[in-house]
Amino acid sequence: MKGLILAGGKGTRLRPLTYTSAKQLVPIANKPVLFYAMETLATAGVRDIGVITGDTHAEIVAALGDGSRWDTRVTYIPQEAPLGLAHAVLTAEPFIQDSPFVMFLGDNLVKDGIGDFVGEYQREKPTSLILLSPVKHPEEFGNAEISEGRIVKLREKPKNPPTNLALVGVYLFDQTIFRAARSLKPSARGELEITEAIQKLIEDGENVRSHVITGWWKDTGKLEDVLEANQMMLENLEPALLGSISEDSAIAGKVRVEAGAQVISSTIRGPAVIGAGARLENAYVGPFTAIGERVTITHSEVEYSIVLDGASIVDLGARMENSLIGRDASVYKCNTRPRAVNLMIGDHSRVGIL
Ligand code: DAU
Repeated sequence: MKGLILAGGKGTRLRPLTYTSAKQLVPIANKPVLFYAMETLATAGVRDIGVITGDTHAEIVAALGDGSRWDTRVTYIPQEAPLGLAHAVLTAEPFIQDSPFVMFLGDNLVKDGIGDFVGEYQREKPTSLILLSPVKHPEEFGNAEISEGRIVKLREKPKNPPTNLALVGVYLFDQTIFRAARSLKPSARGELEITEAIQKLIEDGENVRSHVITGWWKDTGKLEDVLEANQMMLENLEPALLGSISEDSAIAGKVRVEAGAQVISSTIRGPAVIGAGARLENAYVGPFTAIGERVTITHSEVEYSIVLDGASIVDLGARMENSLIGRDASVYKCNTRPRAVNLMIGDHSRVGIL
């Protein structure tokens, strides 16, 4: 069984972060989302992994290396353009050859792993096995219509979805998928849709199985989902106080302070992680917050947020929450006269002010 992780694409819903970095490398609890995909495949016993890359090829290669960190072997497969998930599958055909494979979208997180599904696929060898999950906004996903436990119809992001069952970004396939993908025409969004390729398998009478998963799953394509994923992963944090913490600081709950971080006259309420080399002074870091490496937080309060490496938050007059602060960004109180907000904001940024 081979693995295929999709780490190309555009990431438009996470701009401006994705102007400078791959969306699959956005950190969740201080670990790139793509690393969770590698762990999930490795834990399921999938060791030979192809990784589809796009414009951010170099950054993805720098992050994953040869895959040995997960006891896997990684082969990089550049995709000429983000022309769709089924296009990515066709691009990977020379790597997959005649092996069955599990395709995993590099921005998806599946908390309870996929070992059972990989095992079932290997034992029972259906043409394809897909995973479904009930969601609140089914119009944002591939959608499955089911009757008597069998899939009747799959549609990609339909305006009026007949069910609340979304296609999860984990798919098991054999070679039949290549034939189905080759028969596709680009969709309304100009992509070769994997959803339509699987629909073709169904129409051809192939054995396509589905499972509704009960565990937690998230597509981290949007800010709200990134923050929710961060909360979920911080719950599993291994607490450790490796940095220096002044006597007048207070730490409560599951907290991880990495080596080289300094916590001075500050309060941290977990679950929270503070990255290596960060400096907190007269600060409050509240639950479900991930502070990256070399971040400075002074005279400020932050919770339910992610702050990326090198950013600084200084003298905020209010508590910051539900926020994602980019690398080396700075947020500070403006003491100029006349009193006014001073901003320099990248394209497609969002700022909520009091
Ligand atoms: O997350 C589950 C959903 O993923 C499914 O419910 C949908 O049926 C499926 O089409 C997909 O929808 P998205 O619109 O969320 O896909 P996205 O464009 O975000 O791409 C998913 C991943 O694949 C992402 O890591 C980028 C990568 N990708 C995407 C395209 C279009 C590629 O590597 N190459 C591509 O050409």
